[in-house]
Amino acid sequence: MNAIRPNPVTVVRASLFALLLPLAGSAYAEDAVASAPKPFAERLAAADRVHGRTVFGRCRTCHYPDKGAGHQNGPSLWNVFGRRAGTQEGFAYYSQALKDSGLVWNPEYLDAWLADPRGFIPGTVMMSLGVPDPQDRADLIAYLMTFREQGSQSPPP
Ligand code: HEC
Repeated sequence: MNAIRPNPVTVVRASLFALLLPLAGSAYAEDAVASAPKPFAERLAAADRVHGRTVFGRCRTCHYPDKGAGHQNGPSLWNVFGRRAGTQEGFAYYSQALKDSGLVWNPEYLDAWLADPRGFIPGTVMMSLGVPDPQDRADLIAYLMTFREQGSQSPPP
C-alpha cells in the first residue's frame, strides 16, 4: 500500500513560513508609520530642547536668539513667535517675499518653513537648507521657544 504522506520537513517549513509571515507584515507596517512625519503637536510634546540647541548650531552662523545680541547675517530670533515676519527692527536685508508674506510666526509655520524654506516662502533670501528631519525641527523649535519675553503671545515651551 502506498499511502500518500506529507513530507514532515515540508510541513515544518510551511508552518514556520506561516508563523513568520505576519511578523514580516507588521515590520513593514511599522516602517510605513515611521516614515510618515508625526503631527507637529506630537513632535513638539516629545521635543528635546537640549538636542534642539545642537540642531540650532546650523542657524547660529546667521542668527542669535539671545535678547540684545542683535542681528547677524540674519535677523535676531529673540521673541520671534507671535511677531509678524520681516519686522525685526534694524534688520535691513529682508526679502520683499518675506515682508509680503503676511505671516505671524508661530511654531507650526516655522516647522513648515524649515521643512522646505524655498517651497514655503518662494523668493526668500535665507540661504539655508532648513532642517529635513521632522523631530530635529521640533527639538529646535522647542529650544527657540525659550527665547521669549515673559507674558508675550508665544505659547509656553
Ligand atoms: C546663511 C545665513 C542663514 C542661515 C544659516 C539661517 N538663516 Fe534664517 N534668515 C536668514 C536671512 C538672511 C533671513 C531673512 C530672510 C528673508 O528676508 O527672506 C532669515 C530669516 C529667518 C527667520 C524669519 C525672521 C523674521 O524676522 O521674520 C527665521 C524664523 C529664521 N530665519 C530661522 C532660521 C533657523 C531656525 C535657521 C536654522 C535652521 C536659520 N534661520 C538659518 C539667514 C540665515
